[in-house]
Amino acid sequence: MRTVYVNGEYLPETEATVSIFDRGFLMADAVYEVTSVLGGKLIDFAGHLARLERSLNELDIKKPVAFEDLLDIHRELVRVNEIGDGLVYLQVTRGSDGDRDFIFPDAETTEPTLVLFTQAKPGLADDPVAKKGIRVISIEDIRWGRRDIKTVQLLYPSMGKMMAKKAGCDDAWMVEDGHVTEGTSNNAYIVKGNKIITRQLSNEILHGITRAAVLRFASEAQMEVEERAFTIDEAKAADEAFVTSASNFVMPVVEIDGVALSDGVPGRIVKRLREIYLDESLKAAL
Ligand code: PDD
Repeated sequence: MRTVYVNGEYLPETEATVSIFDRGFLMADAVYEVTSVLGGKLIDFAGHLARLERSLNELDIKKPVAFEDLLDIHRELVRVNEIGDGLVYLQVTRGSDGDRDFIFPDAETTEPTLVLFTQAKPGLADDPVAKKGIRVISIEDIRWGRRDIKTVQLLYPSMGKMMAKKAGCDDAWMVEDGHVTEGTSNNAYIVKGNKIITRQLSNEILHGITRAAVLRFASEAQMEVEERAFTIDEAKAADEAFVTSASNFVMPVVEIDGVALSDGVPGRIVKRLREIYLDESLKAAL
């Protein structure tokens, strides 16, 4: 059985509890982070911590613990649960003052809730899916306007994954005003010739930690990067496509709305980026 962390305690998962009045449960008044673990080490940890701090600030949620302690908590969970490859999920909610109310409870007297748990994913970096790539459908992006904040309002992304599943595909790319915003749980990219194209940062997309690292490594490897919005038609006509996230790293996309890209197999640039990302991130893992 897993050991999880709840508000200062390490407990067996069956003994961990949160109030039914918790605003994370009632109002999705909560933010989260997912950090991958390879060889027992945390990937891009500093980036995830920085984004957590930003999400909390944007929503005026108090820090649940001193941020210096978060690395120790992550490491302790990885250790006790013997995670070689996997994920650490962290969630902070605004907490509860013992009732339901739209008005935020007094931050002076209400403690935020902090929950962390691990998910074991043996062989995460050697995922066979990455060898053949994934197939995506496009769906309308009907999410709220602050997608840069990593909140737990994941109902529409879940519905998007279900729409993809029903269509016999793996995931969905969301489209707003004719342009791709991002994947349901990842950032989206296309490749034209030698150029990597991905939407610029704004409130319309999550500022992916994997995205930041991949774009940095791409530039260091003298690859050409253009940050701009692209249409789904442009994507269908692209040479390659891929998504990035903490759980999938760099994942090739080989089909969009039933249209195969190039030969329907992962291309040269995405394969190279995945290798570089995994090599470089492992070197910097904590
Ligand atoms: N999702 N865009 C969205 C909407 C996401 O939910 C995610 C991450 C990303 C990629 O961000 P990062 O590279 O920092 O993981 C982009 C996580 C993995 C999840 O919800 O499980």
